[in-house]
Order: sequence, then structure tokens, then C-alpha cells
Amino acid sequence: MALEQSLPSTDKKPEFVRAGFAEISAHYDRINDWMTFGLHRHWKRTLVRGLRLQPGDRVLDLCCGTGDLAYLGAAETIAGMTVGLDFASEMITVAQSRAGWCVSQHRPVWIRGDALRLPFPNHSFDAAMIGYGLRNLADVRNALGEISRVLRPGGRLAILETGLPRGRLVAALHHCYLRRGIRLLAGLVHGSAEMHRYLASSALAFASPEEIGKDCAAAELNVSEVRQFLFGSSVAMFAVKRP
Ligand SMILES: C[S@@+](CC[C@H](N)C(=O)[O-])C[C@H]1O[C@@H](n2cnc3c(N)ncnc32)[C@H](O)[C@@H]1O
Repeated sequence: MALEQSLPSTDKKPEFVRAGFAEISAHYDRINDWMTFGLHRHWKRTLVRGLRLQPGDRVLDLCCGTGDLAYLGAAETIAGMTVGLDFASEMITVAQSRAGWCVSQHRPVWIRGDALRLPFPNHSFDAAMIGYGLRNLADVRNALGEISRVLRPGGRLAILETGLPRGRLVAALHHCYLRRGIRLLAGLVHGSAEMHRYLASSALAFASPEEIGKDCAAAELNVSEVRQFLFGSSVAMFAVKRP
């Protein structure tokens, strides 16, 4: 099947994505390690450091999955509050089971909820982060609008997402890796081949950092920095909510 055909329609996407991550939740961390050669851990540390969290900050980790970013955030904010939100309760269960990991006494609070309808009042957070979540949402503009709403003026946002390398040779290798890597992963890890195909096809089809930057601007989020990892196959974007 062509990778493009593994993308669900917008109306079916939320349930497809929720059920897919629920199905692979027990294997998600391993899949991430294999797909990025373990580098996602380094990129996540860089992302959280770039957010320049302060002790006492209130931080939101959207689409938190198994909680990597929330745990890193909790370690930086000491007496603050870190909330991890995801709509797949199976992913949150894995996040909770990793509590031994948390070096901060203040553990993240886990909430099952929809990133497109955040259950928080305006200006509730000093900072927000979203790791490999944006491309899984049915409406990126709406999500950025919600993030902007719950951030205080001057609050910071950090986005980590897949990207597409630009040079012809690296782009071709990356495309080939995503196509073949899927089959390999589906064979090695117990989990849905359909979901592995979706992970690759959504990475190939996702918006460029420039397009995301425009959506950020429409949501009153000024992009301040863009960093590329591994030839641009992952991208970190930092933005500040207009005062
Ligand atoms: C690729 S995982 C990312 C997990 C984690 N942030 C990381 O960086 O490893 C994407 C997560 O987004 C969640 N998700 C997708 N759409 C969502 C939505 N509308 N609301 C809340 N969570 C959502 C999925 O359940 C999944 O756990």
C-alpha cells in the first residue's frame, strides 16, 4: 500500500490515532528508540533546556504519551507544577508506571483529555511543550490556538516534531528508511503494521517548519528559534506568546 493511503481522513483521525497509540502503548518507547537510534532522548533534553524553565513554573506537556517531556519538565521546575495530558489512557498508564524515574519530588499530574479542547482556564501555564504530537492532531491551527489560550502572555512554547531533510540524497535515504523501517519494526515489535505505516506516512506528509511558523503566528505565538536535528529529520521550534 502507498504510504499516502495510510493516512486517515480528518473526521476519522482522532479515533484512529487514539486507538493506534493505545494498541502500541506498551511498545511505544522501544519503537521511538529504534526509529531514532535513541536520539529522541537527547532531542527531548535539548527541547526542555531550550524552554528555559524556572523553579515554580507551571508547565503543560501536551500529547504527553509515556511522559518523557513531563518528567524532564518536572525535574526543572522543582516546586512548580507539571501537567501531562493525553487522550489515550493506555499511554498515560505507561507514563504513571515510570514514576520511579522522576528525580523531582513533584511528580507530574496526569490528565486524560483532548488537546483540541483543553480543560484549563485562560493563562494557566507559564510554558507548554508538545513532542511528536502536533502531526497527530486533526486540526493543528485549532491546537495552537488552544495552547496560546492557556499560556500566559509572554509564556513559552516548545514543539518537537518530525521533519524532512532537504538535500536530495539525504531526503531519498530518509524516505527509504521510513518505508523500509516500517516493515522492519512491524516485524520486530509486536504491534499494528497499520500504525507503523501511519507513523511513517504522517511524518512524510506533515507541514514544514515554515508552515507551522505561520500557524503559530496566527495563534499569537512568535517563533523565536528553530533547531534541526539529524539533517532536519526532527525539528525543535520555540515560540513566545505575544504579551
Ligand atoms: C507520537 S506520541 C508522542 C508522545 C510523547 N510526547 C513523546 O514525545 O514521545 C503522540 C501522542 O499524542 C496523543 N494524542 C494525539 N492526538 C491527541 C489529542 N487530540 N489529544 C490528546 N492527545 C492526543 C496520542 O495519544 C499519543 O500518545
